[in-house]
Amino acid sequence: MSKLLPEAALARTQALARHVHNDDLAQLDAWLVVIADDLDETAWRTLPRGEWLRAECGRRKLRNGSVITARLDTAAQTLLIAGMRKRHASVFETLQLAGRMLKEAKSTQARRLGVSTLGLPGAAAGESLEAVVAATYAAGFDLPSFKSKHQAADSLVELKLFSPRANDDLKVTRATSEGNNLARWLTALPGNELTAASYRRRVSELARREGWRMQFLDSRTLKRRGAGAFLAVAQGNETDDAGIIHLRYRPRARKTGQKLLALIGKGVCFDTGGTNLKPHRGMLDMHTDMEGSAVALGTLLALTRLNVGFAVDCWLAVTENRIGPKAYKPQDVVTASNGVSIQVIHTDAEGRMVLADALALAARERPTLMLDFATLTGACVNALTERYTGLFTNRPGWHTMLERAGTESGERVWRFPMDEDFDTDLESPIADLMQCTPDSKGDHILAARFLNRFVPAEIPWVHLDLAAGQRAGGLGHITTDITGFGVRYAVNLLTAQKVLERAASGKQ
Ligand code: BES
Ligand code: ZN
Ligand code: ZN
Repeated sequence: MSKLLPEAALARTQALARHVHNDDLAQLDAWLVVIADDLDETAWRTLPRGEWLRAECGRRKLRNGSVITARLDTAAQTLLIAGMRKRHASVFETLQLAGRMLKEAKSTQARRLGVSTLGLPGAAAGESLEAVVAATYAAGFDLPSFKSKHQAADSLVELKLFSPRANDDLKVTRATSEGNNLARWLTALPGNELTAASYRRRVSELARREGWRMQFLDSRTLKRRGAGAFLAVAQGNETDDAGIIHLRYRPRARKTGQKLLALIGKGVCFDTGGTNLKPHRGMLDMHTDMEGSAVALGTLLALTRLNVGFAVDCWLAVTENRIGPKAYKPQDVVTASNGVSIQVIHTDAEGRMVLADALALAARERPTLMLDFATLTGACVNALTERYTGLFTNRPGWHTMLERAGTESGERVWRFPMDEDFDTDLESPIADLMQCTPDSKGDHILAARFLNRFVPAEIPWVHLDLAAGQRAGGLGHITTDITGFGVRYAVNLLTAQKVLERAASGKQ
């Protein structure tokens, strides 16, 4: 078996509250400079090889998002990696640029990095530095590899920030990156490495390290609690290892009236489609179908590292979705733990089945807010591509705030409708609810309406259908196909947008 858990990111950051000196450059393998793409001539001249770079940028029409490199005349032959950024670039664009710059640095095996900005006003400079830090933590982290001659990349070990405005937001960036790295690492594991049993072992070790209480709701417990929707999916497994992992983080200082966040994630370790078997291309990457649970876990890790002052419960619905003699079938009828009966239509719509019970169980603890992550529907990917993630909520008035978390974090979300009248599509002649429709028109919306039946209306709930969980070439500052999308979004929502305060105040 592979290592139980990943090693921490190699990169160390050091904020130097000043501009770069020539002696500093001599100590760097690569110097990353984020430059305003409308920089004037005199400012260009302040940069070593500035004249040449300016001419090249002009000739090649390099604008927002472009990266250009030049070797400097230092003993270490420091590589200058210039990234061109427009003044009003979005956070997403800024992260994307940082990702490209780090890719360049990594390809030259640079170990000692420095970063500066040039010609950017305060906020843009701060965002650019943060982006480079986030990209460095991501690039300096190895996803699992099973090559017999595997060599750990010992590149990107150190990043110096040369900026008079070196800030303390870096703590948030570090914690968030650790969460994202963990999420990507677990998601990248092959299906024979990350089975339900090994997932449980890994999480249990992590819980021990991080001081979380852990409870494993196995199939017997779930049967007792009437979790028939989860168990319908789990019954097709070869071994009886599936279950719902419940983790608890509690802040050191306990206050009365403490807020409770519930994170919920779809943890399908492999989605074959079940009895309605997927075809080759559709099945190929389905070992990543547990990414929602990994993102929930990564978010919990980030919040723990940040020592947040609210309580967090995390619910991971872990199973496979397999074909076989015991597997559930179309037209089976099962009942979830909140008493809602479901007519099964398509066994490949297993995500909503396992989440139904995970949501219902999470809701019993009366959390202030429920936030779930799931690679739930292909329809969401069809609607958005892999650049955005679909967002659904039972609090329509929160839309501006929920979208702002996407813009500010650079993990962009798009809201879909959640009107009640969609429910008529899910009316079943024999049960309370149909799992999905026989055709899959707007299935991401219907899946969200389905899940809504397992969340009490009085609990604010946000559902992310992770269309951006996996994208060829990566997304933003993440350059691996598996993006770990959601940790940055959730941390922004919880810390910058103060969503729990809003939830507790009862404002719709
Ligand atoms: N895990 C898939 C959805 C998915 C596929 C997410 C590819 C991201 C990338 C999910 O379990 C599924 O198979 N959904 C079906 C639902 C349908 C049968 C109603 C789908 O989208 O085809
Ligand atoms: Zn499926
Ligand atoms: Zn699935």
